[in-house]
Amino acid sequence: MIEDLLPPGVYAAETFDDRDAETQLPLAERVLVAHATPGRRREFTAGRVTARRALVRAGLPADPIPAGELGEPRWPTGVLGSITHCTGYRGAVVARTGDVPVLGIDAEPDLPLPPGVLEAITLPAELARLRALDRSAPGRAPWGRLLFSAKESAYKAWFPLGRRRLDFIEADADIGADGSFRVMLHVRGPLLNERERVTGFTGRWTTRGGLLLTVVTAAVTAPVETDEALFQDHRRRRRAPQHT
Ligand SMILES: CC(C)(COP(=O)(O)OP(=O)(O)OC[C@H]1O[C@@H](n2cnc3c(N)ncnc32)[C@H](O)[C@@H]1OP(=O)(O)O)[C@@H](O)C(=O)NCCC(=O)NCCS
Repeated sequence: MIEDLLPPGVYAAETFDDRDAETQLPLAERVLVAHATPGRRREFTAGRVTARRALVRAGLPADPIPAGELGEPRWPTGVLGSITHCTGYRGAVVARTGDVPVLGIDAEPDLPLPPGVLEAITLPAELARLRALDRSAPGRAPWGRLLFSAKESAYKAWFPLGRRRLDFIEADADIGADGSFRVMLHVRGPLLNERERVTGFTGRWTTRGGLLLTVVTAAVTAPVETDEALFQDHRRRRRAPQHT
């Protein structure tokens, strides 16, 4: 299901059952779920096994994948990757750092969000665009859940660069009925390299067999000088006396 969403250079593996869930993990991973519930251990194990399968497909060593402080997978040097799991699905994507700038993946059930969630994760402009999608493509996808998933994928893509939690209202997701989406940052983004700063992310989505999947594989960037000038302008205006 995931292959159709990926550009060249990104390798994926996925499973729709838990046959990998009892695999013995390397110690560096086993310790991460030593005190977890059996359900969590199973999803973590299946996720790590799937991720290693993706590494092998990419021709990369199938090394252990420890985790960082906020739960992010710590990929081998020179590798980008992302893992997701939901009921009936475990998926992982990996790439060499030179081949794509960012990677994020999220799977969800193809169902509307529980009541109250949408209001907590959206900006007014996003709600207006979701209403427009409901009118132009009713029933094509649970648009609110898709927006949620796009933002989770964007967060996973952001994290290796931004290194902090990103709130849902710090980004604005625009879902296309054509299977594309864009998530633009409302906060100053991290540097992608010495010349470019990240201002957002783009990706693709699909639904199949009761599942919904989003993948972020590209960053929207602005030249560092443009961005610096913009922020200095904002700061100047904030310091200037306010006339009424
Ligand atoms: C971390 C988070 C995105 C995980 O999403 P989820 O739908 O709950 O669960 P998924 O199964 O899709 O993903 C879980 C996997 O994400 C990965 N992950 C966790 N934290 C991560 C981080 N900070 N950065 C990148 N990947 C991370 C892990 O691989 C994890 O699986 P594992 O613990 O078995 O290794 C979510 O719990 C969260 O904290 N969201 C709030 C932040 C956010 O999304 N903001 C939106 C800003 S626009």
